[in-house]
Amino acid sequence: MKDFWKNQIEKNWKLVFLAPMDGYWDSAYRQAMKKIAPNIICVSEFYSADWLVHSKFLADSVLTHNKTETPLIIQIFWKDPEMFAKAAKIISNPIYNISWIDINMWCPAKKVVRSWHWSCLLINEQTAFDIVKAMTEATHLPISVKTRLSFDWWQDLIKFVKWLEKAWANLITIHWRTAKQAYTWIANLDPIYELKKHINIPVIANWDILNYEDWMKKIKNLDWFMIGRWSFGNPWCFLPWNYYPTLKELLDQMEFHAMKLVETKWEKKWNLEIRKHLVQYLKFFPWVKLYRKRLVTTDSFLNTQNILSDIREEFSEYLDKKPWLGELDFLKDSV
Ligand SMILES: Cc1cc2nc3c(=O)[nH]c(=O)nc-3n(C[C@H](O)[C@H](O)[C@H](O)COP(=O)(O)O)c2cc1C
Repeated sequence: MKDFWKNQIEKNWKLVFLAPMDGYWDSAYRQAMKKIAPNIICVSEFYSADWLVHSKFLADSVLTHNKTETPLIIQIFWKDPEMFAKAAKIISNPIYNISWIDINMWCPAKKVVRSWHWSCLLINEQTAFDIVKAMTEATHLPISVKTRLSFDWWQDLIKFVKWLEKAWANLITIHWRTAKQAYTWIANLDPIYELKKHINIPVIANWDILNYEDWMKKIKNLDWFMIGRWSFGNPWCFLPWNYYPTLKELLDQMEFHAMKLVETKWEKKWNLEIRKHLVQYLKFFPWVKLYRKRLVTTDSFLNTQNILSDIREEFSEYLDKKPWLGELDFLKDSV
């Protein structure tokens, strides 16, 4: 399994990853994305290593997943190598069928940085090394790291990643900003192109990639890409050609996503989550205000199905039109 990446590179397969997103990516989201783009590889939102070690109930609830979500990467965070190693052992249990483990050295939040977690590991190289090493010794699964250009100055990046490679990290994902830049600044890929010249493991770049076509312009010497926010309501962004869904496809996809939420969550949770996810599918179709309003207050699957049926009925003549290409804009003033 540790040769997984090498095999992919030798076969020259272009891998596309769904970025981890705390509070958004769950089993339902992954299944909804993979229905349209079955070849993507999903990274889970972050889970605390400590939490996985101390609660079997919680471990079972986040590691158990649907067959259609495989291969699934589980992302964990914590600060000491021993706890990471213990969590790695649990995640590697074959009953969970997890494909590999990702370490979060990405998060820039002040709270976690102050306690030497996450992106703070960028300036705590020895602990970062010990974590990767302890995990590679504890599990047969590949280990990857998601991190940033550096904590403060991107000049540290090559040294840091070479250090992780030495500890046997199998893959690295780089978000184009430093921890101090958090979400600000214009992304700059140059340091990542430079990094790739110095290491042997695959490199995934992440940040503001819109779709496959956008990535093809940026890939140069890098290996693969990862999309996060652009996939909200838009699983078509992963397809290796520009695809714009018809109104019928959008509505069917919304219904599928809602159904998966109902299947995988307890009622109070999916009631609220349906709202946040479904309106995203209408983002290039903003003038259906009436339906958006109904969707953000829906409180049952049946009600959601009724809203979708009403849209289908009202726009029955236009179901094969592509709203994102403006093919329904002529209706703007009449709705
Ligand atoms: C709401 C939200 C939650 C996130 N949660 C995680 C997380 O759990 N683990 C992680 O490594 N990155 C997390 N990220 C960062 C994303 O994985 C990704 O690096 C970032 O959004 C940039 O990629 P994008 O421009 O394609 O969205 C999160 C980002 C957002 C906006």
